[in-house]
Amino acid sequence: MTSPDTRGDREKVVSKLPSWLRQELKVRAVQHGIDMQEAVEAGITAWRGLGSNLSPIDTSGAESFATFLPAEQWSGFRADCKSRGVSLIQGLAQSVQVWLDSHPSPAVKRPEIVRRIVVCNQKGGVGKTAITAGTGEALAEDSTSLVPVRVSKHFAALLDEDDRTNDPLAFEDLPGLGQRVLLVDFDPQGHLTKQLGHEPLPMDGDSLTNHMAGDAKGDLSDLIVPIDGDRFSGRLHLLPACADAFLLDVRLASVRAREAALERALNAVEADYDVILIDCPPSLGLSMDAATYYGRRRPQEVPGNSGVLIVVQAEDSSADAYGLLTSQIEDMRNDLALDVDYLGLVVNHYDARRGYIATSSLQSWMDIKDPRVVGVIGDLKEQKEAVRAKQPLLAYAPRCEQSVALRALAREISK
Ligand SMILES: Nc1ncnc2c1ncn2[C@@H]1O[C@H](COP(=O)(O)OP(=O)(O)O)[C@@H](O)[C@H]1O
Ligand SMILES: [Mg+2]
Repeated sequence: MTSPDTRGDREKVVSKLPSWLRQELKVRAVQHGIDMQEAVEAGITAWRGLGSNLSPIDTSGAESFATFLPAEQWSGFRADCKSRGVSLIQGLAQSVQVWLDSHPSPAVKRPEIVRRIVVCNQKGGVGKTAITAGTGEALAEDSTSLVPVRVSKHFAALLDEDDRTNDPLAFEDLPGLGQRVLLVDFDPQGHLTKQLGHEPLPMDGDSLTNHMAGDAKGDLSDLIVPIDGDRFSGRLHLLPACADAFLLDVRLASVRAREAALERALNAVEADYDVILIDCPPSLGLSMDAATYYGRRRPQEVPGNSGVLIVVQAEDSSADAYGLLTSQIEDMRNDLALDVDYLGLVVNHYDARRGYIATSSLQSWMDIKDPRVVGVIGDLKEQKEAVRAKQPLLAYAPRCEQSVALRALAREISK
C-alpha cells in the first residue's frame, strides 16, 4: 500500500476572500490544530450540503486567497455556486463562515487551583522584575489572536554556533494564553510598579503590608490596578508596591504564623485570577519565607501548578547566590514540612557574544538538571526601552526576540 500524499490528490486553487475572514480562519485553524486547507474543504462540503445560502457576506475588498482542495470538490463547488446564484467569492466566504460557526474558539484552559508563581533570587539586577512582568504579560495575551512564540526549546543549541536550529528568531504563531493574571509587586523598591507606568501606593493608606499585618481598612482588591493594552484587554492587573514593605519584619513582629501572612492577604482576590506572580525583593528575609510559603503545593494541587521560578544570570557569580536561596527554600520545606515545587531556572541576560564566560555558565546551569532550565532570555535593548517608555514589553515590542522567548517560557511552565 502506498501512503496517501496530502497534496498529491489536491490542486492549488486561487480565489479571493475578505482579509478579516482570512484572519479568522487562520487563527481558528491553529486553535483547532488543523491545516487551513482542511478547514476550507470541510466548510465547502458543509456549505454544499445546506438547503439554502447564508445571508450575503460583505466581500468588498477581498484579496487573493490560495488553498489546496480535492480537484473534483472544486469543480463541483463552482457548479453549485453557479446554480445557487452566488459568485465564487461569495460561495467561498460563506463556506468559511459555516466552518467558523461550527468550530468556535476553544475555551481557555483555566487551572483548578489558582497558580502561584514566585519569582525570586536575593541577588539584585538579575532580572526578576523583567521576567515577572514578561511572563505575566505572555500569560495574559488574547487567546483569539496569534502571537509569535520561540520554537526552539533546545537550549543546548544556543551553545553550538554551527547548529542551524540556533535561530533565536525562529518562531511559530500560536494563540495567546488568555489567563487572568495578577502581578504582585512585593519589592518595596517598586520597580515593577513604576515600569508599568504606575505609582507606588502612598505610605499613609492601605497596602499589601497593612493587609499582611491585619491592619487594613478596605479590601485588597481596591488597591489593584489594570494594565492597559489591547492584547491584555482587562486580564492583566497589578498590585502596586508601597515603601512600607521596607518595614515588613517590624510590622509582622507580633503577627502569628508570619510566613502565612502573604497567603492570608492574597486569599481575598484569588478567585479573580488564574495566575498570581510574585515579584520578590532581593533579600532572603521574612518576605522570601512568606513568598515561598505562598507558592507551596496545596492539598489536591498538581505538582508544578505553582512554585518558585529562579532567575539567574549567565555569569559565574550568580551561582553562590543560587546556593543560598535554595538552602533557604530547603529549610522552609523541612522545618514546616511544605511541598515546594521548583518551576525551573530562567537564565537571563544571556549574551553569547560574551563568549566562553556566557556559554560555560549556561552549560553549568543546564548541568544542574533538577531544577532544569526552562528559559534562556537574551540581553536585549528592547527590555530597557520598554522600561523607559513605562510600557509592558510585550505591548512595546511584541515581536522582538525577548518577547518571543518570554512567550516560550510562559508555555514551558504552563504544561
Ligand atoms: N534580558 C534583559 N535584557 C536587557 N536588559 C534587561 C534584561 N533583563 C533585565 N534587564 C534590565 O536589567 C535591570 C535589572 O533587571 P530587573 O528585572 O530589575 O532585576 P531584579 O528585579 O532581579 O533586580 C533593569 O534595568 C532591566 O530593565
Ligand atoms: Mg526587581
